[in-house]
Amino acid sequence: MNTLTDEKIRSYLKYSGDIDLTVYKTTDSTNLRAKEAALMGAPSLSVFAAESQSAGRGRLGRSFYSPTDTGLYMTMLIRVKPGALLNLATIYAGTAVSKAIEECCGLQTKLKWVNDVFVRGKKVCGILAEAVTGKNGIEAIVIGIGVNVKTPQGGFPDEIKDIAGALDTDVSRAELCAAIADELIILSELDFYPEALEYYRARNMLLGMDVEYTLSGQKSHGIVFGIDDAGALLIQNENGDTCALSYGEATIGSKNVKHA
Ligand code: BTN
Repeated sequence: MNTLTDEKIRSYLKYSGDIDLTVYKTTDSTNLRAKEAALMGAPSLSVFAAESQSAGRGRLGRSFYSPTDTGLYMTMLIRVKPGALLNLATIYAGTAVSKAIEECCGLQTKLKWVNDVFVRGKKVCGILAEAVTGKNGIEAIVIGIGVNVKTPQGGFPDEIKDIAGALDTDVSRAELCAAIADELIILSELDFYPEALEYYRARNMLLGMDVEYTLSGQKSHGIVFGIDDAGALLIQNENGDTCALSYGEATIGSKNVKHA
């Protein structure tokens, strides 16, 4: 696949302001690079992109498969006001990635709460938003985005092959990186306007599904009926009780599978 360079990414960027952009052939994790830079005073909208990662990080302490040649790994550092919510940052990032993929690739996307973007029923992108805290609480959020642009030769590793997919279009990593950065900049400059949440809700892949989830250490399942304004997943369990899941994971339950 084409190499990812500073010049190529900038040639696609629509944003006319200044952004700091650092491109690596390989690094451990672009989120780690962004967090380090945030603590050193790097400006808002700084972007860190890599062709591969040796220690890609996923949510809930998992690793993120980050091979060279087939994926795009990028992180944007955004300086935020006190009280910023990580969940909402992830939701807005999902919106930005979805818009970029739909525009650049002409594909339809679905969003699986909270951090996954799906195409053709497979996960093509994961998002990891992390807070950078200083003396005054959260000072910045780093939004890490990993996209499977092409299916690796020989396919995905066994552990993820059932869930992972790729865009598999002609889009270049540089074009996609610029489009995602542009969408994130628009969202952050508009102070993450509410329409973005509406966009996400319209692509909520879990809506109406029976999901399994863990709340306060207790495993449960219920039907998803929405996403609230703080970005939490709204679930109604079999007793009719409702809950707002703001952390963790909701997995599609076996009740959705129709048996012959
Ligand atoms: C997930 O699916 O659990 C989230 C994956 C997030 C991966 C991206 S790749 C760029 C950035 N750097 C990292 O180490 N992780 C994020």
